[in-house]
Amino acid sequence: MKVDFHSHVLPGIDDGAKDIGEALELLKMLKSDGVDAVVATPHFYIHRHNVEDFLKKREQSASELLKAMQGESYPSIVLGAEVYFGSSLSTMPIKELCIYGTDYILLELPYNTFSRTFLNLLADFVGGGYANVILAHVERYFEYNNEKIIEEILSYGVLAQVNCESIISQRSRRLCLKLIDKGLVTLVGTDAHSVKKRPPEFAKAEKIIRRKLSDECFENLMASAGGIIG
Ligand SMILES: [Fe+2]
Repeated sequence: MKVDFHSHVLPGIDDGAKDIGEALELLKMLKSDGVDAVVATPHFYIHRHNVEDFLKKREQSASELLKAMQGESYPSIVLGAEVYFGSSLSTMPIKELCIYGTDYILLELPYNTFSRTFLNLLADFVGGGYANVILAHVERYFEYNNEKIIEEILSYGVLAQVNCESIISQRSRRLCLKLIDKGLVTLVGTDAHSVKKRPPEFAKAEKIIRRKLSDECFENLMASAGGIIG
């Protein structure tokens, strides 16, 4: 089973698909790349959203999309969220923000250099047993933090995901492949937002992983995703 573990295909809920038409277009592109299941991870910002409203909006968006998908063959959709990490997260109903039917949460970290205070907060959250943490597009945090800091975070016992576009980009390919090869990254996602500006590029990334690492490596990534969403 091929799984896109990070996407913004749900329409009208965040800066992803703007309407049903675009959502269906994105799903068609994923289908033609051989993707069987898409984890839909709209942004959840702890300072801006409340969980109840977010879930209501997500439910509405998903049910409209599922209705429009009827009768056609599309990848299946698993509901999730890309949750921006902050100190108040531990006071929220975390289970509700986990990927549906699992105790895994996809966390987005701030795009800056992490302070010691921040690292301690994150370590406390991970160690608090609220959920199993998956870091969204871990490669991006290397732009602001040295390898040691990222390795420290990974040592807290979190999983990590990389974006397909970062595997494709010459600028970040080497880093992404190294992380996958070392087993530090076990999940991939398109982080697709739109048909034109940020399209899903699953097949291109798959090809690179298969060519530069191995078929087995790609199969292992898909097996990790399948193991989480069931
Ligand atoms: Fe995202």
